[in-house]
Parts: sequence; structure tokens; C-alpha cells
Amino acid sequence: MASKTELKKLPNAELRIGDKTWEFPVVEGSEGERAIDITKLRAQTGHITLDPGYANSGSCTSAVTFIDGEEGILRYRGIPIETLAEQSSFMEVSYLLIYGKLPSAAELAQFEASIRRHTLLHEDLKRMYSALPKDAHPMAACSTTVGALATFYPDSLDPRDPAQIDISIQRLIAKLPTLAAYAYKHSIGQPFLYPLNSLDYVGNFLRMMFGNPCEEYDVDPVVKKALDLLFILHADHEQNCSTSTVRLVGSSMVNLFGTISAGINALWGPLHGGANQAVIEMLESIAEEGTSARDYLERAKSGDESARLMGFGHRVYKNHDPRARVIKKACDEVLERMGIHSKLLEIAKELEEITLKDDYFVQRKLYPNVDFYSGVIYNAIGTPANMFTAMFAIGRLPGWIAQWKELHQDPSFKIGRPRQIYTGPTNAPYTPIDRR
Ligand code: SDX
Repeated sequence: MASKTELKKLPNAELRIGDKTWEFPVVEGSEGERAIDITKLRAQTGHITLDPGYANSGSCTSAVTFIDGEEGILRYRGIPIETLAEQSSFMEVSYLLIYGKLPSAAELAQFEASIRRHTLLHEDLKRMYSALPKDAHPMAACSTTVGALATFYPDSLDPRDPAQIDISIQRLIAKLPTLAAYAYKHSIGQPFLYPLNSLDYVGNFLRMMFGNPCEEYDVDPVVKKALDLLFILHADHEQNCSTSTVRLVGSSMVNLFGTISAGINALWGPLHGGANQAVIEMLESIAEEGTSARDYLERAKSGDESARLMGFGHRVYKNHDPRARVIKKACDEVLERMGIHSKLLEIAKELEEITLKDDYFVQRKLYPNVDFYSGVIYNAIGTPANMFTAMFAIGRLPGWIAQWKELHQDPSFKIGRPRQIYTGPTNAPYTPIDRR
């Protein structure tokens, strides 16, 4: 396991409130990021900090992923995302994130074999889908069935037992593609295909998604490689909304299944992972309405929330999201190899081109994020828009798991419980109901 670098101690920070001054430690991480350690702030000063959305607050130290938002840098365990996109596989990246090092050939083979042995669902879990409406959103189906896994494996719920953790990790990584594919099959009234473990991870998923019992399904290598790449690019992203959810829920010592179910729900939101679905719906509406890209952008600039430029902007990247660049390049390659001309890709590129020269977007440092182009590929391989975020969840699962493991291995582990500043009524009277 890659070790966490010890925090470097820098000269203290001084805080003066009124006529009192306090000193607090300043620490520096392995990439030169600095923080004021306020673990004793309230005890010493009686004050807390206030930081809605946590834009200025570090919740933890982590050795999993590093992002430099100003430089557009993303590294998993120190390895640049561009290198992993070029040379690695989703299974290898999953191992790297979860176990902290690149696996040997034997370790990778063992990891993939252990995943293959758990792709099947309990038949009672499979029957759960029949209780869901046909139009159940796949993210609702996935968070429901992932949470339900805790009822089928009561023997592996202890978040501190290494053997129970390992088998839960294998089950989650193995079964999420099956659970997601079944949500799609349920929505179109087609029979579920059992996993075929002679196929690799992505090929098995593609067959469960697009195959049927009436004919052989040939996995298209171009599609498989594109999906493997998308999963790599989505695998982790430091303390984003859903990962912070996983850490906060996990800090209550609940089992991993319940924790991941919470992460799936956080990812579903249109401001987070749900943006990939919103992007393709935005591109389709521009295409159907015949709106010009420029007119649409004028509406987005007007603050019209219904015209927010989905897939643009990021809390951390104030430069290009490196993932968006890799996906945009893959769009051209995959669509060309598939012989597909995508009007939606054309519109997306035109939107990006205009924003690069438009002060509104330049001043706000709004660039395409990971969600802007990913839907073009999902769409091209036949995935319905409401499945895009479920694809994101499959990709993000190893990252959630890696961060959850790190949480439980952290010597400073404690349950997460932020404070607040109260602004409500003070000493309010209780008026009996007959006098209200
Ligand atoms: C993901 O955190 C992660 O790492 C997330 C993620 C991951 O891998 O886990 O990278 C995945 O969630 C990517 C983001 C996907 N979401 C979207 O594409 C939705 C559209 N983008 C935004 O809603 C927004 O940019 C956020 C939510 C992504 C970031 O929000 P912030 O950091 O809170 O920024 P903000 O909303 O305060 O915006 C700052 C300014 C505002 O202008 P002012 O009011 O200050 O004048 O930029 C404007 C916003 O109005 N703005 C946009 C915009 N995004 C921000 N204006 C038009 N279109 C947009 N998309």
C-alpha cells in the first residue's frame, strides 16, 4: 500500500480576535497544499469556522487522488490520469486505487478472478426488480439494490474485519454492473441475462446491457475499450460530493453496502454525476429546437437556471478538466471507428468553442467538465440517457471504496459531525393550540 506522506509542519498561523491572539499549526501535504489545523479552534477560542459547501475546508488527509484545479492536473496514487487512460485498464486502476499500488500480473489476474466469481445476484434480489415501476430511474434501482445487498450478506457487514471488507469489495465491484444492467432490462421489459464469466468485466456488462437470450452477443472491441476508458476516467476524484457522502456515512461505522448506496444517491444529483444525463438532454433540446449554440449560451449567461450550461464549470478545476480533454479525443476516435456522425458532438464542440472566447465563461473559469462529452459516447453505444449516471457510478465505485478504506485506516478516525451557527428564534413561547 502506498504510504501517506507525513504532513510537514510549517510556522504557526496567528489568529487575533479582539485583544486576544492564538496560534494554530500550519501543515503542508506532499504536493505543497497548505492548511491551518483548527482541530483545537473551538476549545481554545470559543469560535467555529463557517464555510457553506466546504469550499475552503479540508475534511481529511488522503493519499488516493490529487487534483490541481489551477493546472488541470489529476493523478490516482500519483500517476497522471492521461498515462492511466493510455496504458491501463479499469480493473488495474480499481486495484491501484483500492490497494494503493499497481498490481503484478498475478495479483491482477487474482483480483479479476475474484471479481468474476461474484457477478451473479441472489435470485431473491433479482426478483426485487419486479416490484419496481418500469420507469424507475436506474439510480434509484441501483441505490435500492446495493443497499439491499446488506440483507443478503449479514455475515460480512463489519467495517473493521479485513476478510469481511475484502469479500464485500469483491461483491460490490462484481455486482454493480449486473444491478445496473438489470435496471435497464427491467425498464424495457427484456429478460435479464445472467453474467457470462468467460467475458471480462466490461464485456460482461455490455452483454448484460445489450444482449438478449435469442442470439449470440458479440462484444465490439471499440465499444469495450471506450467504456473501459470512461470507467478509468470516472474512478476517483478526491473529496467530491458523493465521496464526501461516503466518508460521512461511513464514519458512523455502517456497513459498506449502506455506505455505497448513500454515495449512489449523492451522485444522482444533476449538479454532480447526474449532469451527464442533463448534458445530453441539453444537446438534444438544442438540436430539436434548432436553437443556435450562441443563442443557447446567451440564455445560460442570463442566469436562466433552465438554461444552465450543464457539463460546464467545476468547484475545483479553474482550468480544463483533464478528463474532458481525454473524453473529447475519444469521442472523435470512437465515433469514427463506429462510422457514426454525431450532431450532438458537433453542437457540444461549437458550445465549447464559443465559450472559450466569451468573457462570461472565461472570467468565471468555466470549462467543460467530465460530464460534458461523456454522454456523447454513452449515447453512441446505445445507452439511454437515464443510464448515464449509473455508468458513472460503476466507474466511481473503486474510488468510493478506496476512500472508505482510507477513512477506516486513518488513526484520527472519528464520526463526522459538523457544527452550525444558529439563527433561529431564541426562547420562543409555546402557545397552546386553542390560542393559536
Ligand atoms: C461532477 O467535485 C467533483 O469533483 C465532481 C466531479 C467528480 O468527478 O466527482 O468532477 C463530477 O460533478 C462535475 C460537475 C457536473 N455538474 C455540472 O456540470 C452542472 C453545471 N455546473 C454547475 O452547476 C457548477 O459549475 C458546479 C456545481 C459544478 C460547481 O458549482 P460551484 O463551484 O458552487 O460554482 P457556482 O455554482 O457558485 O458558480 C460560480 C459562478 C456563478 O456565477 P455568479 O453567480 O458568481 O455570477 O459560475 C456560474 C455561476 O452562476 N456558473 C455557471 C455554470 N456553472 C457555474 N454559469 C453557467 N453555466 C454553468 N454550468
